[in-house]
Amino acid sequence: MRTTDAVWLAPGEPQEIQSDLVSRFQQEYGRAASGTWFAPGRANLNGEHIDFHAGRCLPMALAHGTYVAAAPRTDGQLRLRTLDASLDDGITTVTPDQIGPAAAASGRDASGHWSHYVSGVLWALRELGRSQPAFAVDADFGADLLVVSTLPIGGGLSSSAALECASILAFLALGTPFGQDNPLQDLNAALTRENRKDLAAACVRAEVEVVGAGTGGLDQTAAMRARPGKVLSLDCRDFSVTPLDIGCILRGYRLIAVDTGEAHRLADGQFGDRRADAEAATRLLGLDRLRDALPEQPRKADVSHVLEEFDRLAEQLETLDGRSVEACRRRLHHALTEMVRSEKLHHLLSGEAYGVRHIASTVGDILTAGHMSMRDDAEVSFDIADLVVETALAQGAEGARLIGGGFGGSVLVLITPAAIPKLTAALERISRRIRLLDVAPSAAAQAL
Ligand code: GLA
Repeated sequence: MRTTDAVWLAPGEPQEIQSDLVSRFQQEYGRAASGTWFAPGRANLNGEHIDFHAGRCLPMALAHGTYVAAAPRTDGQLRLRTLDASLDDGITTVTPDQIGPAAAASGRDASGHWSHYVSGVLWALRELGRSQPAFAVDADFGADLLVVSTLPIGGGLSSSAALECASILAFLALGTPFGQDNPLQDLNAALTRENRKDLAAACVRAEVEVVGAGTGGLDQTAAMRARPGKVLSLDCRDFSVTPLDIGCILRGYRLIAVDTGEAHRLADGQFGDRRADAEAATRLLGLDRLRDALPEQPRKADVSHVLEEFDRLAEQLETLDGRSVEACRRRLHHALTEMVRSEKLHHLLSGEAYGVRHIASTVGDILTAGHMSMRDDAEVSFDIADLVVETALAQGAEGARLIGGGFGGSVLVLITPAAIPKLTAALERISRRIRLLDVAPSAAAQAL
């Protein structure tokens, strides 16, 4: 019988993790690491599957994340190893000709090796350096990297983006004029908001163009631009962020991420398939980005109008770009209602919705409505996630929902501390693979 403590996944002590990683680096590569960089995973209050429709998302960084120790090389090679047992297959060597979109496409295996996230980021930083000389990577730059993560891999908490963002900081520090001018921890103070935005965009390019996953930028923005104690209200029309205080939700409550133990993979087809359905609906409506179908402060009635318009346009159609019209309509319904929920939360947390007395229960209802939409309209949920949501609600949670891309991953739960022991016991009965993470909105990617 496990103790309930065993289901909690602690973020660990950063200094201890760093010093272990640095000594492992010495053993692995026979030389000292030049530094260590960290990037967090994320949870998202609302805004799933709408970043690529220019909707609003409300992510927070976790204290859990990915650590990268690295030292530069001068032969253009990357040598990489992870200490995560589920991914570790020894040192992977990536030669300069294997770095970049074309090389990855020709050598890409079906499952997509994790090293593509790292080599992709080096390529993307080189690209960024073309327009920003401070970020120009030295021509013969390469690096040895050792990686360890306190995030569940494939847990829907953006372990991939954390790897990308920690790696890009390592490359920035070791291979560019920016890094030479701002050694080690000075890098943190030197990075402007604009720099962080550009670096997040480079990580998105790596994931889309090299790894081949259809990420929309939510994860990399959270990892690169999060603020401690804040929810980042991210407007994906222009990727501007407004940090909003989360204290009003957490007074008397806790947010927990329940990792279901069902790993998801973004690079596989289902995520892209759902996205393509919604994009087909967007095209039918004659729009470039779906967010433009709704007014600035959308309400439910606006969603109905867009759906009526869709029905009118789709009336004579048997398929939509070869896709089921009904399925496209359901994706559209999810995306539009999710946009409305995000705007509502934004106003609630900005203090603009005066008179909401029970903010936790309002937020909880929005979370649960988001889950139903992920389950019935986006159709990205799965049995254990639905069961975790039901169980959490039965144990008195204010709300619960699947977060991330779906088809595996984690459920976010808003609950009082007093109800947690019973919830934990009930979750242990569902699956032995379930793990809990405390969601304490934390800082963005940084040099340690
Ligand atoms: C993944 C993608 C993100 C976002 C979420 C779903 O995490 O990387 O860009 O689309 O799924 O909201």
